[in-house]
Amino acid sequence: MSPNQADALVVFGITGDLARKMTLRSLYRLERRGLLDCRVIGVAAENWDVEHLRRHAHDAIAATGETIDEKVFDRFASRLGYVSGNFTDAQTYQRVKEALGDARDPVFYLEIPPSLFARVVEGLAAAQLVSSGQRVVIEKPFGHDLASARALAADLHKYVAESQLYRIDHFLGKMGFEEILYLRFANAMLEPAWNRNHLASVQITMAEDFGVEDRGHFYDPVGALRDVVVNHLMQLLAAAAMEPPAGRGAEALRDAKVAVFKAVADADPARYARGQYNGYRSIDGVASDSETETYAALRLEINSWRWAGVPFFIRTGKRLPARETEVRAVFRQPPNLAFLERTKRLPQPSQMVFKIDPNTGIRIILDAHRADRAGPAEIELDMTFAAEGGEDPTPYEVLLHAALIGDSRNFTRQDGVEETWRIVQPLLDAPPPVEPYAPGSWGPSDAERLTKSYGGWRGPWLSPDS
Ligand code: BG6
Repeated sequence: MSPNQADALVVFGITGDLARKMTLRSLYRLERRGLLDCRVIGVAAENWDVEHLRRHAHDAIAATGETIDEKVFDRFASRLGYVSGNFTDAQTYQRVKEALGDARDPVFYLEIPPSLFARVVEGLAAAQLVSSGQRVVIEKPFGHDLASARALAADLHKYVAESQLYRIDHFLGKMGFEEILYLRFANAMLEPAWNRNHLASVQITMAEDFGVEDRGHFYDPVGALRDVVVNHLMQLLAAAAMEPPAGRGAEALRDAKVAVFKAVADADPARYARGQYNGYRSIDGVASDSETETYAALRLEINSWRWAGVPFFIRTGKRLPARETEVRAVFRQPPNLAFLERTKRLPQPSQMVFKIDPNTGIRIILDAHRADRAGPAEIELDMTFAAEGGEDPTPYEVLLHAALIGDSRNFTRQDGVEETWRIVQPLLDAPPPVEPYAPGSWGPSDAERLTKSYGGWRGPWLSPDS
């Protein structure tokens, strides 16, 4: 047992959507892997008892498509407890305290609206539940701009230290995220080339083939930039651009990420394209004249010796033709090769692709001469990790387990959160108009402008079934 191993997990909002879709299944899977080693106490306003929660957990896990091993489920169910209560009522926290009994090192997981974060943490503090370093895990969004991100942190810091806060960005639990760091720094073939001497641009694509569906109320005040760019895609940028962490431990990794964020210039609204898919405005919860972007593309610059002059392009959108997330490094254009007299074709720049979703993989694109008859062309060297190593844990399994053992490496820190808001703030202040795009297309034409002088958007690497 790790010295930081939690002796209970208290989930505020266990009756909600995220718990139904993600948390209960992830906890069950941790149980199956022998990694859940404590009680799990749910807290919510619903007037349930623990039997009700157990039935709900069974249904919720089954509904995710997970095959349930009843023996494992029974073990998991026996860990469950339930406290019913309003989050604004001091009595609720007393009941949580009673339910915790002699547990001294609980982790509190807040899957509740951010407007309630400070209220719940205040309640925990008043009941002396977070006074000796206990961890509090919170879910995005951490503010809706730089000022509100700072205000939220100031509210939370009244009751808990920054080191107690574990902010979830589920992209940090994806296998592909770790893989980028490992491949970059563990391969002498890559690291020496990973800079402006050899790379012309980096393109990050997060394409989704589904729309906003039943999340209109949540999504319309938010939009793509806040929903996935300022958090998930900035984390991928950090993985692609950061220096190797200068030592062991969580802070070294987090310092390296924050350092690269600090070197990113404020985003320029002239290098920002926004789109909205046709049909978005008729979704329940979306304003009929909504200007919210469901597609965002932008160009960022990093002012450092490693990266000056290498644009980082980011694009994301809903209702695009495929679900694919990748980070793609495009190498410099090779010169015209006079000795190849038989072809006038310019060799194409090499590319290195880290695929993050829907599965993890790497692709290297090289220009090859091939057989005389076929002639020179780009060839793709692909490796999909699932083919090598079996099933990955889900991001929530990875992150909940990390929170339970006190490993804060893959949680975001407030200075990093503020830096990412600082970077995108000019885009929030002066957004260009949204351009409509057809569902199933690659988004608004304005996005093409951004990458035009860099050979256009490349990829993404499409999975065979997309
Ligand atoms: C969430 C966003 O944080 O991430 C969603 O709110 C988005 O809009 C989702 O679809 C993507 O995550 P994943 O892991 O399913 O690709």
